[in-house]
Amino acid sequence: MGFLSQNLSYSDSALTLLHDLIHERTGINYQNAHRELLADKLSTRVIACGFNSFLDYYYLLKYDTNAEPEWQQVMDAISVPETFFWREMDQVQALVRVLVPQYFASQSAKPLRIWSAACASGEEPLTIAIALNEAGWFERAPIEIYASDGSPRAIAKAKQGLYRERAFRNLPVSLQAKYFQQEQEGWRVLPELHSRIKWTTVNLMASVEVQPLATASVIFCRNVFIYFSEKAISRTVRLFFDAMPTPGYLFIAAAESLLKLTTDFELQEIGGAFVYVKIE
Ligand SMILES: C[S@@+](CC[C@H](N)C(=O)[O-])C[C@H]1O[C@@H](n2cnc3c(N)ncnc32)[C@H](O)[C@@H]1O
Repeated sequence: MGFLSQNLSYSDSALTLLHDLIHERTGINYQNAHRELLADKLSTRVIACGFNSFLDYYYLLKYDTNAEPEWQQVMDAISVPETFFWREMDQVQALVRVLVPQYFASQSAKPLRIWSAACASGEEPLTIAIALNEAGWFERAPIEIYASDGSPRAIAKAKQGLYRERAFRNLPVSLQAKYFQQEQEGWRVLPELHSRIKWTTVNLMASVEVQPLATASVIFCRNVFIYFSEKAISRTVRLFFDAMPTPGYLFIAAAESLLKLTTDFELQEIGGAFVYVKIE
């Protein structure tokens, strides 16, 4: 039995139970060495629920019929919402310069749907929208952008559309000036751009939530699989694959790879970027 700084008692077995339950629900995997980090992130919630042990908190999440709102709090507590504008732009440029023209050359009337599947506070889908607008696509063709995250707090922030200086570290200054207005608390994205995106919460481990959005032709799911177990990645990728049309394009971050896993996606280099493609 150990104690965290807030005098919460924990045992390795209670943390393992809690870890496994959270992993099953969210895909996020705190390997053995990081169990205490997980405990640390959850300690505020354990106290807020009036408990002094992690085992009691485990019982609440596992068995309480009213645990759903607490699961939202868990997602917020363990989420790592680090992101910024113009991140890994080679993939976004491959979308804008190659995939979008290809799509509208082959099927003119049907809208192209793009889904940013773990968008944190929204910088990734807004980057996609800016790049598409800069290339003139919004005037020329029907494009729908969906953006979601498992953390309700992240999506609430995305819906606000207000960003601090750090988020702009990669974005050309001219684009910051064009698409954002400075306010006292930061920079607010222009409503015309912000409203192009449909914001929602989706847990990537919940098939009923994933399936409707995974019918998109293009999915960006970047910098989230680094936190997932292999089993959880395989499951999510399978959900994407089953729902996506052909051709379907999945972008994951450069630091991530599906090579160790068996998937039906084919890895291709398109416009200088790596993309997982669902082919006929
Ligand atoms: C590091 S951010 C990535 C943001 C953006 N895609 C990027 O590349 O800049 C990771 C996000 O994944 C989200 N996440 C983690 N597990 C998730 C899950 N099971 N379902 C949906 N989102 C999840 C977190 O809430 C967090 O906002």
